[in-house]
Amino acid sequence: MSSKLIAPSVLAADFANLQRDIEMVNNSEADWFHIDIMDGVFVPNISFGMPVLKAITEHAKKTIDVHLMIVDPDRYIKTFAELGSDVLTVHYEACTHLHRTLQAIKAEGMKAGVALNPHTNINLLEDTINDLDLVCIMSVNPGFGGQNFIENTYNKVKQLKELIVRKGANTQIEIDGGVTDKNAKRLVDAGADVLVAGSYVFKSSNQLETVKGLKAIANS
Ligand code: DX5
Ligand code: ZN
Repeated sequence: MSSKLIAPSVLAADFANLQRDIEMVNNSEADWFHIDIMDGVFVPNISFGMPVLKAITEHAKKTIDVHLMIVDPDRYIKTFAELGSDVLTVHYEACTHLHRTLQAIKAEGMKAGVALNPHTNINLLEDTINDLDLVCIMSVNPGFGGQNFIENTYNKVKQLKELIVRKGANTQIEIDGGVTDKNAKRLVDAGADVLVAGSYVFKSSNQLETVKGLKAIANS
């Protein structure tokens, strides 16, 4: 069984001490940096933009996983590649021509992901799953950290895993929102490969130990 990955979400970091928190992730057992970009249109919140992402990627020593919660993401694919993104995930609900968008992301040398809102059915990926390096199942409604995990996520992970196996796809399953030590094992057992964790990691008193513990649970 391949190793399950932990991706701390920088949205929950202390922005007044951003370099310190980036170094914490560098020094931890985490695998990826999860970076949430919000435009205040696709989601009712604005996070941060290019200058902050640039500052992060200059210090980060692990895979940069960018989650775009923005309308018309095609406009910025090249920019996110130049800023050092390794994985670029767009929202299914924000893409009129999803297939074209995925090809454009890959053409820039990045892995291509799609995120699904809690109301978006897994079956809608039937015709794109073989083009997807990653599917991010939102386990909260996107826009904010610190929300409660939606229980139906387990069913969606199982459905997605079945689709991936049936189609012979090579797609990683990422879970984003409300991930803690309480749901990590069940998510992995259902088929999850990457667990994003924001508040659970950054609001804990010993962040290194929290990452270590989550990684151990995910790989138990
Ligand atoms: C929500 C973001 C998440 C968020 C997760 O819109 O996509 O990545 O930062 O934060 P927690 O783990 O606190 O739910
Ligand atoms: Zn996210």
